[in-house]
Amino acid sequence: MIYLNGDFMPIEEARIPVLDRGFIFGDGVYEVIPVYSRKPFRLAEHLRRLQHSLDGIRLLNPHSGKEWSRLVEQIIAGNESDDQSLYLHVTRGVAKRDHAFPKGVRPTVFIMSNPLPAPPRELLATGVAVVTTNDNRWLRCDIKAISLLPNVLLRQMAIDAGAIETVLLRDGFMTEGAASNIFVVKNEILLAPPKNHLMLPGITYDVVLELAAANKIRHEVRAVSEYEVRTAQELLLTSSTKEIMPITRLDGKSVGDGKPGPIFAMLYQLYQNYKITVMRGSAAF
Ligand code: PDD
Repeated sequence: MIYLNGDFMPIEEARIPVLDRGFIFGDGVYEVIPVYSRKPFRLAEHLRRLQHSLDGIRLLNPHSGKEWSRLVEQIIAGNESDDQSLYLHVTRGVAKRDHAFPKGVRPTVFIMSNPLPAPPRELLATGVAVVTTNDNRWLRCDIKAISLLPNVLLRQMAIDAGAIETVLLRDGFMTEGAASNIFVVKNEILLAPPKNHLMLPGITYDVVLELAAANKIRHEVRAVSEYEVRTAQELLLTSSTKEIMPITRLDGKSVGDGKPGPIFAMLYQLYQNYKITVMRGSAAF
């Protein structure tokens, strides 16, 4: 069951006009929210980021936080899996094609859900391969825009090379992955690039840094150089759908000793424990 502009229906029945500005211009923003045991994970934070994205494209939020929460609840209830990945999408609506904002047009609101499988155990045990390339995206990567053509092309580079993600480098520093945030371990310290306009402020990224702080894992939020990426002891990838994954190959070379490292193992376990406390409704943060 999906939600589209006020109605709930099976996805096969959902229709949007071809003049929707999402279709014509990619003029919209989105969120991906993980749901564990039918509870949305960090919903308030995802809705806050949605507001940031809407502000970034100068589109009024069509719903209050309460309304979004209610819609999210209804979609979760209307779908089978206990663990789901929710996709929320808002576009500037339907109007005659013209780049300038249309007046008096209602935004299009779409929500769908997909089952959210746990990351495969084999991949957690062996780690995943990534490639690197130059970050050629625009300078507002903090907006979760639906116009994802650069990310699509960048991520496909990884797939074509038999890897799963592309790590992006801009002016000698790492920004993020094509669809994930990247952490580096160097000299036993977890390094994370600071949130700015060059990367998406990941919700999983925040959880990882909070867990590191709460568990006395040494960490620094600062610019991370390409050299540090290439000589890292460990590399980690985070996203709402992939949680935390170890990266063990970079551009065909081993990362560290080529196996998932101790900081990954610690953070992975902390993340799983944290999920359980959230699902029981007793998380400390
Ligand atoms: N992508 N950076 C980019 C470019 C992303 O697309 C994503 C997530 C992240 C991680 O953010 P979070 O931890 O909040 O999921 C970072 C989602 C999952 C997607 O587009 O499907």
